Amino acid sequence: LVARASTIPHTPAVSESPLRLHRASGDEARQAWELQRAAFDLPEGGPPVHPGLSDELRVAVRDGRVVSCLTLVHAELLLRGARVSLGGIRHVATHPEEQNRGHASMLMRDTLAAMRRKGFHTSLLFPFSFRYYRKFGYELAGNHAHFWSRPHAIPCFSDRDACRPAAPADPPALAALHRRLAGASGFSLTRDEGRWARVCADPGLQTIVHCDAAGEIDAYLVTAEARDAYGGLMLRVLDIGAETEPGWRGLLGRLAAFPGECIDWMASATELSASGLLRSAAPLREAYKPRAIVNIRPMLQFRVIDVAEAVGRLLPTFPRERYTLALRIPDELLPENGMPLAVRGVGTEVELGTPRPGDPTLTADIRTFSQIYCGYTTPTEAVAQGLADASTPEAAVLADRLFPRCDPFVCELDRF
Ligand SMILES: CC(C)(COP(=O)(O)OP(=O)(O)OC[C@H]1O[C@@H](n2cnc3c(N)ncnc32)[C@H](O)[C@@H]1OP(=O)(O)O)[C@@H](O)C(=O)NCCC(=O)NCCS
Repeated sequence: LVARASTIPHTPAVSESPLRLHRASGDEARQAWELQRAAFDLPEGGPPVHPGLSDELRVAVRDGRVVSCLTLVHAELLLRGARVSLGGIRHVATHPEEQNRGHASMLMRDTLAAMRRKGFHTSLLFPFSFRYYRKFGYELAGNHAHFWSRPHAIPCFSDRDACRPAAPADPPALAALHRRLAGASGFSLTRDEGRWARVCADPGLQTIVHCDAAGEIDAYLVTAEARDAYGGLMLRVLDIGAETEPGWRGLLGRLAAFPGECIDWMASATELSASGLLRSAAPLREAYKPRAIVNIRPMLQFRVIDVAEAVGRLLPTFPRERYTLALRIPDELLPENGMPLAVRGVGTEVELGTPRPGDPTLTADIRTFSQIYCGYTTPTEAVAQGLADASTPEAAVLADRLFPRCDPFVCELDRF
């Protein structure tokens, strides 16, 4: 998200009264929206939809004037099959005449404390600057693979005949399929039937499903048409998911049949590999090189807000054996997270408790722990880079089993 020059009228404060930081009330919400609209070139009708269940505007106010603001999206993450609450941060904006005075920083620190009070376990954002949000304990935790190709470089599989536009009765089956795929991927924002119904009914989107021989939906594709930088018609893939080979072939067949210039897809590396497009079976047209372009770019930053609660949510995913792993996670901005914690497998149960002297221990600051928690990096990889410390080699191996790697990713449809 890149800032634009803004022309919001501004009257300098007569005296420097203290900043007040809180959830926006009526007129403050209007002022905050004007700031966000100007900073991000947002449509007049209201903020773009997000994948959360609700949201709130948080503001820094001086003498009744909003000088800085952000939106906190109340969303939910499915992490290794466990439901974890997630506060999404978006549209951070400071009045152009008030910038570089620490207002957004104060608001971010206050929002971290507010998220913890409100019971959020984790937080996620798509930063304009990774360096800026590292100060607040966020760390890079996901990349996207920006895939581009001509439609003819995608195989025109006949399985596309089993595809059709989504129908009003499809959201329950789509929500169930999305849940299964989210469980298998290890990291996904949740999407309930209501959101699927809104996606299917959105006139700006095309939602296509593929059905198996029994008529059950086993793959879906959500796209939007757009113009590329040269005015050519392009198909943007906003989300795609398939749990069978025929499903993938059906969706690729649909993409291949697109009558425009190109296909543009922000994919996870895992999905791109599963799709088969990295070894496209489409006949080669030698004049066209390359067949596709893929750029890997950093995408999201993640932060654990409440270490004990967040780890507690994952207990059902931990092995049912006998072991102990103590966690020490220093956190300057939320010092409560620094309280040592022990994960204890006691055979058929796993519990959280207080560590005892000599327990195998993993120590990592909140940024590195956030990467480990969401599966972006493994404890062993963190130790091998000097970013974490394991009291014994066994402690690192055990931590790898509790926090296995996955591929954190948020599709374009769920960007906020
Ligand atoms: C980015 C923004 C929110 C910062 O607000 P602020 O109240 O000035 O922030 P602070 O005073 O707390 O921090 C200023 C820091 O942000 C940095 N910064 C500002 N704009 C930046 C940019 N586009 N890229 C990288 N860093 C930037 C400043 O260099 C400064 O860094 P420092 O702390 O190392 O000196 C404000 O510049 C703004 O509203 N920009 C337009 C909207 C926007 O781009 N938002 C992005 C967030 S989603």
